[in-house]
Amino acid sequence: MDNDYQFFIDKVKKKTRIDLSQYKEKQMKRRLTSLSVKNGFSSLKSFYEQMEKDKALMDKFLSHMTINVSEFYRNRRQWDILAKDILPSMTENQKNIKIWSAACSTGEEPYSLATLLHPYKKSIAVSLMATDIDSMVLEQAKLGLYSEKSLKELRKEEVDRYFINSGSSYQIDSKYKQMVSFKKHDLLEGTYGTDFDLIVCRNVLIYFTEEAKEKVFRKFSDSLRKGGILFLGTTERINNPQQYGLKPIQSFFFEKV
Ligand SMILES: C[S@@+](CC[C@H](N)C(=O)[O-])C[C@H]1O[C@@H](n2cnc3c(N)ncnc32)[C@H](O)[C@@H]1O
Repeated sequence: MDNDYQFFIDKVKKKTRIDLSQYKEKQMKRRLTSLSVKNGFSSLKSFYEQMEKDKALMDKFLSHMTINVSEFYRNRRQWDILAKDILPSMTENQKNIKIWSAACSTGEEPYSLATLLHPYKKSIAVSLMATDIDSMVLEQAKLGLYSEKSLKELRKEEVDRYFINSGSSYQIDSKYKQMVSFKKHDLLEGTYGTDFDLIVCRNVLIYFTEEAKEKVFRKFSDSLRKGGILFLGTTERINNPQQYGLKPIQSFFFEKV
């Protein structure tokens, strides 16, 4: 690792507790270097020194660490499997269901879950927690305002049912909004909850080193109740899921055994 990058990640860790060494180095270095060059700095050291004095620049760095892009029902096929094959049996004869959308970005993922879970609310208590490391995306998520781009996987009647449309913006209906509680959480540092029926973590693990991913899978497994499900993104795979007590049941769905 070169000194400039090492200096940057050491300082960031001290200041924010964010551990960039657990992200793939080449990718992270490229993203940070390009951001610092774009902002007129010749080294990551000078970029960091300015960041210490300039909160807006620090926020910019936090939002550029990884990509924040999301969508409702992203990779629709998997959401259809969740709706048709997984949720009906998961909710059967249950009094409550506990769900975590980890690395939820601007809220499309937890609100997608809310739309699927809402019909069950008559007979079951639904707890839906959504977390991300980036406070700014969480603020956006709480607003629940989207452009058409985020809704491209949805059918027209779903858009009409789930949103209030005004001009080019779409406001998620308050009945879904109030189902989700948003919280800041770092998957690499924070403690995890327990007894989850479903953990959804998509399109973030791809940024982590193999060792970091292993730790996260172990912690997800410990957080699930027996029979609970881990739902991953289509870019993610688990090598040898049995080592974590997880069993593949469909593509990108794993059951805690
Ligand atoms: C590409 S988005 C994924 C959003 C959503 N899960 C989806 O699949 O559409 C990646 C998110 O991971 C978040 N993230 C990056 N590192 C994280 C960490 N260590 N802990 C929690 N969230 C993290 C980023 O802030 C970003 O919002």
